[in-house]
Amino acid sequence: MTDYAARNVQGHHAIAADDPYAIRLLKEEHHRFRTLFDAAKQADGAKRVAIARELCMRLAVHMTIEEEILYPALKPVIGADEVDEGIVEHDMGKKMMVEIENLDGTEPLYEAKVHVLGEDTIHHIDEEDEEMFEDAKEAHIAGKLDLDAIGEKMRARQADLYQEIEMDGEIGETREADAEEIPST
Ligand SMILES: [Fe+2]
Ligand SMILES: [Fe+2]
Repeated sequence: MTDYAARNVQGHHAIAADDPYAIRLLKEEHHRFRTLFDAAKQADGAKRVAIARELCMRLAVHMTIEEEILYPALKPVIGADEVDEGIVEHDMGKKMMVEIENLDGTEPLYEAKVHVLGEDTIHHIDEEDEEMFEDAKEAHIAGKLDLDAIGEKMRARQADLYQEIEMDGEIGETREADAEEIPST
């Protein structure tokens, strides 16, 4: 039985005391994705559909704040390769998410599709934690970018996006990340 969430406390996946705000915010969300994909694996029927929808909404918001705010700030500093790879992985994930959101859970391949979205997402967020965020943190320490200010911008954009979702009445169990959930330095 895969247990993605076991990784949340290991190596660079754990939130380090000196992680700047942007990194803490995104790692906190990565932790939640691992936990939710574990829960999706254990659930079936309507419960699995509810968890998958929750994941798709949260992942869409997470990808948007990374693509709009973090990635463009990182590109000139850590180089295009890691960032471009991240964008391509997001695009693949989004295609699968659209597909999953249009299914009702009774389809023969539903479980497999959620499983593959989980495997691909975990691969992507593990790489962000281990490579991209470490390079970004190094640049932050060297004074080449301000990951605390970038974190504040992402947090504000995240709140706006969740408000839009809530206004559309699609919120379900989804809530914006609670500021208290993100450990402070
Ligand atoms: Fe990402
Ligand atoms: Fe991420």
